[in-house]
Amino acid sequence: SRPKTIADLYAKYNAQQPITMVTAYDFVTANWAQAAECDVILVGDSLATCALGYESTNQIGLEEFRYHVQAVCRSPGPAFVMVDMPFGSFESSIQQGVETAIAFMKGSPRVGAVKIEVGSASSAFQEQDYSLKLAAELCSRGIPVMGHVGLTPQRAHSLSGFKVQGSKSAEDAAAIYHTAQQLQNVGCFSVLLECVPHKVSSYITEKLSVPTIGIGAGLGVSGQVLVQSDVLGMAPHTVPKLARKYGDLHSQSVGLIRQYANDVTARTFPDNSKNGFKIKDVVWAEFL
Ligand code: KIV
Ligand code: NA
Repeated sequence: SRPKTIADLYAKYNAQQPITMVTAYDFVTANWAQAAECDVILVGDSLATCALGYESTNQIGLEEFRYHVQAVCRSPGPAFVMVDMPFGSFESSIQQGVETAIAFMKGSPRVGAVKIEVGSASSAFQEQDYSLKLAAELCSRGIPVMGHVGLTPQRAHSLSGFKVQGSKSAEDAAAIYHTAQQLQNVGCFSVLLECVPHKVSSYITEKLSVPTIGIGAGLGVSGQVLVQSDVLGMAPHTVPKLARKYGDLHSQSVGLIRQYANDVTARTFPDNSKNGFKIKDVVWAEFL
């Protein structure tokens, strides 16, 4: 079936059906998301920590990131593909940010939008927030943008850690709301709310006229996103409170690989009759 468009996502939003979104980091995980019929695949910069072993998402390089975007885009299926603008790929100048986004879209016709983390430290500061300006510049050039507000991991140092945003004071909650509104006003087709009290995200969703996607933002948003490695339990550790672990792919995989290694040790793999290849008797006789 044909790839989904923003109009398809809006049709769900208008019908008040939740938009489903999950991350993918390569061809295999993208194929799983496609087969599960998720509306949107996000190539998130969580790739860095979840699939590449980095300590911080901010460590990933743009070329490494693009290599994974390309692999995800090779997965057949209708999901709308969105990519994160990784740390360091857009902050130097508007021109750098525009060039990065254009390169993603030129790299594969399957890339339908970019996602940018946007600060909302205070109402005075946010008017001039650089990412907000960049979002406006991209939208005005016909590049669809999802604005990411609330907990913005690339800005974890500015936020003094990874914590709930907009819960401590009315000003903090208002700053997130106003930033979401400004993102809508500059043309973002959707706003992602991460780690925001569910009352705040429901309020924002009611006030906006574009869909909101939540992670740690409760039920009152227009759709949900989770990191695929959390959903599948790919890592041995517990998942964050905002996620739900639907399986234990880590222990399943370890168990299966152990079975294989045990078969090799016991010389029960390979089985010559099932996994082996034959040589004709005449050829073998000649060889001898
Ligand atoms: O990088 C990522 O996976 C994300 C989602 C958690 C929203 O930005
Ligand atoms: Na991200």
